[in-house]
Amino acid sequence: MLKGKHIILGISGGIAAYKSVMLLRLLIKAGAEVQVVITPSGKEFITPVTLSALSGKPVVSEFFTANTGEWHSHVDLGLWADAMVIAPATANTIAKMANGVADNMLVTTYLSAKAPVFVAPAMDLDMMAHPSTKRNIELLRSYGNHIIEPAEGELASHLVGKGRMEEPENIVKVLDGFFDRKEDLAGKKVLITAGPTYEKIDPVRFIGNYSTGKMGYALAREAAGRGAEVTLVSGPVSLTINHPSINVRHVESAKEMLAECESHFPESDIAIMCAAVADYAPAHPVDKKIKREGSDAPVIELVKNPDIARTLGLSKRDGQILVGFALETDNESINAQAKLKSKNLDMIVLNSLRDKGAGFGTDTNKVTIYMADGRELRFDTKSKDDVAGDIIDTIASL
Ligand code: CTP
Repeated sequence: MLKGKHIILGISGGIAAYKSVMLLRLLIKAGAEVQVVITPSGKEFITPVTLSALSGKPVVSEFFTANTGEWHSHVDLGLWADAMVIAPATANTIAKMANGVADNMLVTTYLSAKAPVFVAPAMDLDMMAHPSTKRNIELLRSYGNHIIEPAEGELASHLVGKGRMEEPENIVKVLDGFFDRKEDLAGKKVLITAGPTYEKIDPVRFIGNYSTGKMGYALAREAAGRGAEVTLVSGPVSLTINHPSINVRHVESAKEMLAECESHFPESDIAIMCAAVADYAPAHPVDKKIKREGSDAPVIELVKNPDIARTLGLSKRDGQILVGFALETDNESINAQAKLKSKNLDMIVLNSLRDKGAGFGTDTNKVTIYMADGRELRFDTKSKDDVAGDIIDTIASL
């Protein structure tokens, strides 16, 4: 429900700024009180007169009004807001937000905002795909900001690809959904595993896998955003997360992951096993680097790793919910349901490597959830954040 909510609409300088007018209209129509903050280059794309007429408030752009000296307090604005939405967020503004470059009113307001922040990127596809933009967006995510993923389509450059700002109707839906949602995990303790495990061969080599941890980290943010106290047991990943209700425990091997899980599971209400745990580890890891010269190609003997999900499943108490993942390449449904039973899970989330946009490293996922009570829930391809929302909704329904 947006009625009566105080929303800061931040507009930066991109062609998509024209869509912000429609977004503003929709927010006002939904009953929100909107304060527009625009960057100097944003004003090159859209006039403040249109924005102030629609919002019923003077548009804020400078730190003070030149002729009267009236100071515009970004701190007061940050405290006033129930949410801030930055649409469009250009590559430049995203970079400034990610790095705290506070040289305009929009970024200073962002840095002062206590409320949740929603960022709707809009830029050309190559800018969107650049490693620096990707890293900056990941940083914003790690600060707890909500990224409203851009859509694919024709861009202002006439190139076709990812970078088109999400449509205003959908941005309003995201905000609406946010204010509508309950703190349905308040008071719950949630244990989540994420990322790969590395199994040591020698001091410089390991056995690992392609997992990036994105799905597990998205689940941790979603659960914490809904009021849970989260312990995130993470294998080696390049992601960061920074949330007062998320306690990150960094581990490397399956054995270390198991030890953390065993120490946190007894007090957990919910455990979500999202990690891609290596099934095997070298039987005899060595302390000195294995040399090439003067030796035959080594044969590495492997031993089975502990099955963490199964171990927790064996000690599960009444009322505890245990959720597993299955990443399959064939016989997907049968394999997933077999794991649901053998690991004593309450539900299992299947993603198939055969589905486009699912699996390791992607920003999207396509899942089917099998429940212990026999239900089967199918979902479309969505961003991993949205998939996390669906998974947590399903857990909350239990
Ligand atoms: N899992 C685990 N510990 C392991 C292996 C898997 O906790 N040693 C968990 C995963 O986190 C996931 C579920 O079990 O939630 C299924 O993982 P998956 O690798 O698909 O299944 P495996 O049991 O390892 O079976 P296989 O690799 O033969 O498909």
